[in-house]
Amino acid sequence: MSQGRGVSGTEGYGEQADSLVEAYESVVFEDLYRPLLTLLPESGKALDIGAGTGRDAAALARRGLQVHAAEPTAALRAHAQRLHPDPNIVWIDDSLPDLARIHAGGERFDLILMTAVWMHLDERERSRALPRIAELLGDGGKIFMTVRKGPVPAGRRMFEVPIDPLVSHAQSLGLDLLQRYEFADMLGRKDVSWTMLAFEKGNRV
Ligand SMILES: C[S@@+](CC[C@H](N)C(=O)[O-])C[C@H]1O[C@@H](n2cnc3c(N)ncnc32)[C@H](O)[C@@H]1O
Repeated sequence: MSQGRGVSGTEGYGEQADSLVEAYESVVFEDLYRPLLTLLPESGKALDIGAGTGRDAAALARRGLQVHAAEPTAALRAHAQRLHPDPNIVWIDDSLPDLARIHAGGERFDLILMTAVWMHLDERERSRALPRIAELLGDGGKIFMTVRKGPVPAGRRMFEVPIDPLVSHAQSLGLDLLQRYEFADMLGRKDVSWTMLAFEKGNRV
């Protein structure tokens, strides 16, 4: 099951991987997630979807979590493994919307990160992906995700994502909204901004 090549959403990343490393790694985890730090589990299992160069996976591993990092772009995954050779991170070639390998592993997670990834899926893929992601959470498990606003860079596949329908879909899947806020682009692009959403899987019968 080779997933990396031809995965929808990854267009442009393989070719640009070498030039993206410095920028992605310059972002500090604690700055990016500052308002959510008190919600982070102190132990347990985390899944970073679209983990890129592994910055966040490595930060979670340093904080004591066992991390699965799913990244379909082979060149980014190679940089990540070179930069962050942490035994508490398992690297996986897997992709949205199905996350077939992660699902086959049968793990349930206390935290799922999807940072700067969701806008790469079209509406159909997003509808398919969200229940698959929700299924991977244990009770009380949380999702932190960012949604991008701004122009599409050359060579990338990206879509505008309306926030309210996303929140409603998540709530219909038993995900309670914990936080929603806007923030400026951490890479300094004036025409790009982000919405952060944090959800928690409720204990419903
Ligand atoms: C803007 S980068 C963000 C990387 C990392 N999360 C970060 O915050 O630095 C987007 C990432 O999403 C990945 N990606 C694109 N399409 C994807 C898909 N269908 N499933 C999973 N990841 C995908 C890309 O390969 C890339 O690593």
